[in-house]
Amino acid sequence: MNGQKLDIKPVAPACERNQAVILEQLKQQLRAEDRLILEIGSGTGQHAVYFGEHLKHITWQTSDVQSNHPGIQMWLDEAELSNVLSPLGYEIGQTEWPNCQADVIFSANVLHIISMEMVKQFMRDLGENLRPGNRVMFYGPFKYRDEYTSESNADFDLWLKDKDPKRGIRDFEHIEQMMQQQGFTLVQDIAMPANNQLLIFEKL
Ligand SMILES: C[S@@+](CC[C@H](N)C(=O)[O-])C[C@H]1O[C@@H](n2cnc3c(N)ncnc32)[C@H](O)[C@@H]1O
Repeated sequence: MNGQKLDIKPVAPACERNQAVILEQLKQQLRAEDRLILEIGSGTGQHAVYFGEHLKHITWQTSDVQSNHPGIQMWLDEAELSNVLSPLGYEIGQTEWPNCQADVIFSANVLHIISMEMVKQFMRDLGENLRPGNRVMFYGPFKYRDEYTSESNADFDLWLKDKDPKRGIRDFEHIEQMMQQQGFTLVQDIAMPANNQLLIFEKL
């Protein structure tokens, strides 16, 4: 995608596979006071539309690098949901944190796509911009004590690094340590289908 108008909506088959199970967790984990969710790396926009359709009391703010905005906007235009908002531009390491007073940050499958330098910048941005009580949810695959949780994740890691050596499945312990350094504590580490996790941190 290059920021130009698209003819066909982008589709990520993985979103179709994982959206129902993530939604179940969101329903359980979101608190009554959580009203505004800022998604980092909305991708196609599918998750935003699906979660927005099923969580009508929530306002879902999408964001991504600028080149993904036309695709996200196509999903939003078709769904016509008043609680799912057009993407904000946020490119970790390149732009400022978006102007959005969110209660919860949700980010799926981003930490292994960006370099470790960007992961650190992402965490610094979270630490600087979130308020006490705000939560951060990271969905995706993680390693534990340097071990993959499945052979398929080990293969996926090789595939990621083959595309770009800076990519890779992150160590849970490293993520937790960096988040702690930014003033967050781990609230939940939930094992999800297909060897993924949902990590939930809260700002102290
Ligand atoms: C693997 S996709 C995941 C998309 C979606 N969250 C999902 O689960 O299908 C990774 C996402 O990270 C975004 N991304 C990559 N580099 C980024 C950066 N520096 N800042 C913000 N988002 C970035 C990509 O544009 C893409 O939307």
